[in-house]
Amino acid sequence: MQGKLLNNGLTIPSIGMGTYPLQGTALTEAMCSAVKSGYRLFDTAHSYGNEDSFGVALQEIYKQTGVSRADLFLTTKVGEKLRYGIGDGQLFYRRFKGEEKPIYETVKAQIENSLRLFKTDYLDVVLIHWPYPDFLPEIWYSLEKIYKEGIIRAIGVSNFRERHFERVLKEATIVPAINQINISPINTRAAQQNYCKQKNILIEVYSPLMPLKYSKIRDNLILQELCLKYKCSLAQLILRWDIDQGLVPIPKSSSSLRLAQNIQLDFSIEKNDIDLISSLNENFQYLPESIYCPGY
Ligand SMILES: NC(=O)c1ccc[n+]([C@@H]2O[C@H](COP(=O)([O-])OP(=O)(O)OC[C@H]3O[C@@H](n4cnc5c(N)ncnc54)[C@H](OP(=O)(O)O)[C@@H]3O)[C@@H](O)[C@H]2O)c1
Repeated sequence: MQGKLLNNGLTIPSIGMGTYPLQGTALTEAMCSAVKSGYRLFDTAHSYGNEDSFGVALQEIYKQTGVSRADLFLTTKVGEKLRYGIGDGQLFYRRFKGEEKPIYETVKAQIENSLRLFKTDYLDVVLIHWPYPDFLPEIWYSLEKIYKEGIIRAIGVSNFRERHFERVLKEATIVPAINQINISPINTRAAQQNYCKQKNILIEVYSPLMPLKYSKIRDNLILQELCLKYKCSLAQLILRWDIDQGLVPIPKSSSSLRLAQNIQLDFSIEKNDIDLISSLNENFQYLPESIYCPGY
């Protein structure tokens, strides 16, 4: 599949593999299978606690597959450490009014740690995981500075709405290349998509297969008919719906069979069927954003 062009000229693969919450051998096995099925883009984050396993998996990929670092497209995210699945607020939040924090040093240290764990001297993409409100512009300007130092090929954001972009873009010298958010047939986020399109910001879709958890999606007659028409599974239909709208999905699976199926997408969906799938939108929110990012 042809990749997609980012606003700084870098090409990103059309689909990638998400790695949360995989760790250890499960992550190595999944990433090696993924590479053998054709994946080149892999997504992790400081907060996932799996960057060490991710680094081990990369070395195993080089050994098992002959694929080299240059063939891969590695994304990580700077952010808070998770405690009980929720950001612990130690790095990018003020504990008391007026408190200042060494934002550039924190961002740089996380990126240097990723480089060390991945045994590489560059990252393809680094994103800000959440629009942490206390120091948001400072985090972005730090990322810009590190990008200009030449160790990251593109920088972007995640979970950003229009208001977060407006805050950061006031004094930014670089427009984020990517916004990683959740989009699905039941939450199409048309306004956010339009905003990003206008600013030439590519949308990566996290948790693209989340709707499969719900029987109203699994049993939906419109989707079932479209699966028959395009001779595909529901997962394949949703992933192709993402790609045909210019979005880059990053599905996760621990199963080599599912990983292989999720990238077998050699069909395309007619425009009227894309619209039909989008008509299922009900602004369904599956992540309580203000829990992961207080002040969101
Ligand atoms: N930026 C953010 O804030 C953010 C938030 C959430 C996630 N992410 C990223 O996005 C990635 C993907 O999101 P996600 O893991 O939440 O959700 P997902 O990729 O939509 O996957 C959800 C579940 O679907 C199952 N699955 C995969 N392929 C399938 C298939 N063909 N048929 C049926 N079920 C299938 C997987 O289970 P099995 O493993 O059992 O196959 C997986 O646990 C994460 O791994 C992470 O890298 C980012």
